[in-house]
This record gives sequence, C-alpha cells and structure tokens, in this order.
Amino acid sequence: MEELENLQSTAEQAVRACNSFAELQTVKTRFLGSKSDLVGYLKTLKDCNPTERVQRGKVLNAVKVALEAAITEKTKFLQSCERLKKLGNPIDPTLPSPYPSAKPLHPLTQVRKRIANIFKQLGYSVAEGAELETEWFCFDALNAPENHPSRSEQDTFFLPTKEVGTTSRKADEKYLLRTQTSTVQIRTLLKHKPPLKIISPGRVFRRDTDDATHRFNFHQVEGLCVDKNTSVADLKGTLDYFVRQFFGKDFKVRLRSSFFPFTEPSFEVDIFITNLGKFHNTWLEVLGCGMVHPNVFKNCGIDEDWQGFAFGFGIERLAMLLYGIEDVRRFYQNDERFLAQF
Ligand code: DAH
Repeated sequence: MEELENLQSTAEQAVRACNSFAELQTVKTRFLGSKSDLVGYLKTLKDCNPTERVQRGKVLNAVKVALEAAITEKTKFLQSCERLKKLGNPIDPTLPSPYPSAKPLHPLTQVRKRIANIFKQLGYSVAEGAELETEWFCFDALNAPENHPSRSEQDTFFLPTKEVGTTSRKADEKYLLRTQTSTVQIRTLLKHKPPLKIISPGRVFRRDTDDATHRFNFHQVEGLCVDKNTSVADLKGTLDYFVRQFFGKDFKVRLRSSFFPFTEPSFEVDIFITNLGKFHNTWLEVLGCGMVHPNVFKNCGIDEDWQGFAFGFGIERLAMLLYGIEDVRRFYQNDERFLAQF
C-alpha cells in the first residue's frame, strides 16, 4: 500500500513538472504505459486471493484514475498555454490603441486641411469661435432682422437658459447652437484690429431632418478679409484662386446678386465644372459672399475707413463634389469600407 501511495505522489509530481506535450507523453508512458509499475501491479492481481484482489484492485484503480485525471488536467493547461502563445498578450479592447493609427484622416478633416492650406497661401490665418453662442453673435451683430426666419425655433436649436446658467452672462440673453460660422466674423472683429484675414472652419447646427443633402450638424468655413480699399474684385480674385487650387485649373467662378443680412452687396457664387463625377460643363452654386455690411462694422466698433469682404461655404458640400459622394450621411456612418477610400 505504501508503495502505491509513493507511486501516486511521484507520478503526480512528474506530471506537475511537465512543460510540454512531449514531456507529458513520456511521463504518461512511464506511469501508465504497458511497462509501467502500475500495470505490473495490476498483472499480479490474478495471483492474489479474492479478498486481497478486491482490496488491491480498488486501490490500484483509484491510483490509475487519479493519474489519468492529473494528465488530462495538465493536457488542458498546456493547450491553453499554446492558445495564449498564439494570441499574444491579453488585451483590453476598451482601451485606446497604444500604436499610432496608420489610418488616413477622415475625408472631412482632409478637406478642411486642404481648404485651410489654400487660404494660408493667401495670408489667411485660422480663427476659432464657439459652438454654443448667443443670439447676439449669431444674428443681431450680423445685422439679421428681428423677424428673420433663421431665428425661428424651427430652424435653430435654442437652449433653455437654465441649462447654460446665467452666471456672468446677461439674464435676458438667448443661447443657441450656432447656425453659421459667420459668428466668428464678430468674435474676430471685437478682438482684433484690422487689417485682418481669417478663415474659420467649424461645426454648425440646424434643425433639419437628416437626408441625403441635409444634416442637423455639418461644417462650414467662414472667411473674412478687412483692409483699406478692399473691393468686390479682391473678393472675386480670392474665390477664383481658391476654387482653382481646390478643384483644378479649368474651374472658374461667377457671382450672382443675392441677399445676406451681413453683406452689402451680397452674392451667390457658382463654379463652372468642366468634368467632375456626374457633372459636365455646368454651373453649380457652392457658396455665399459679399462686402461686409456697414452695420456689422458698427456693431463691432470698426470705423468707416475700413472695408472688407466675407464668404461662407459648407465643407461637406465641397467634399461631396470633390469625391463624387451623393449622400452626406456617408460621412457620419463610420463605415470602414467608405472611409478606407480616402
Ligand atoms: N452664413 C451663410 C450661411 O450659413 C454663408 C455666408 C454667406 C457667409 C455670405 C458669408 C457671406 O460670410 O458673406 O448660409
């Protein structure tokens, strides 16, 4: 009996010490194989008397079962080690990747950078504004009439005053998510003395229902140039340069008379497309512009010696034209197959 106990503990120790399937196989053959001590003992059972045979048989069987169990357990352990080796170190997929992303930038970011680079060549710098604005910055200061439809609750996301709080702000001020980046004209004119040239790319919000050409939020670029003797010719020259750099040398622009509260005169700008996606030899309206309205200057305390022009357009619109995309929602679906094309 003692011998058997020793055999079991030696065998279990040997199993524990195994570090590979090969070692385990050797141990298995040594302790359970046909030439093993255990099998030797089992063979001697036939020579025992019946009572002894039952007793010894039980013990031998228990040792055999215990050894087999130890080997099965070790096999599973070695298998899981193999699997881990193949999978590498355990990772937490909820953490940001430690490796810098090799992916290209989002197409809208690429287009925004491309736009900014073109204007930088003309001496413009990039100005920032706020997405949460007051009605004064978004409408009043920009000379929008009191009853302008863009001010309506149907078009603009107004915030309940209690959500933004009233600390250090005028109690009667209405807060909103800006509907246009033209707000940055005001922020810039209040902060910096002319001459100045800025563009301001940023997010804007409108109470539109999402469809192929509308989004409740999208991106615009606002441009503002203030100097002495600035004229419509400078405005047109600037836009001409931009459009040719952005789309290609054979593009041209034309100005059509229009109305915006913050410019006088105001224009819509069409670009002539010779060949781009589904467009061939056609004019397309892409942006708005004009000479800064005297009331805007007055609201910002800029005197009459200065003139300026301003323009504004949608980044999504330009990106859709450039890449031939027909549904603005594609930019926001995080579809890797779509994003991988840029
Ligand atoms: N803010 C206008 C819009 O959201 C775009 C625009 C038009 C901006 C004319 C301008 C401009 O600066 O002069 O539709």
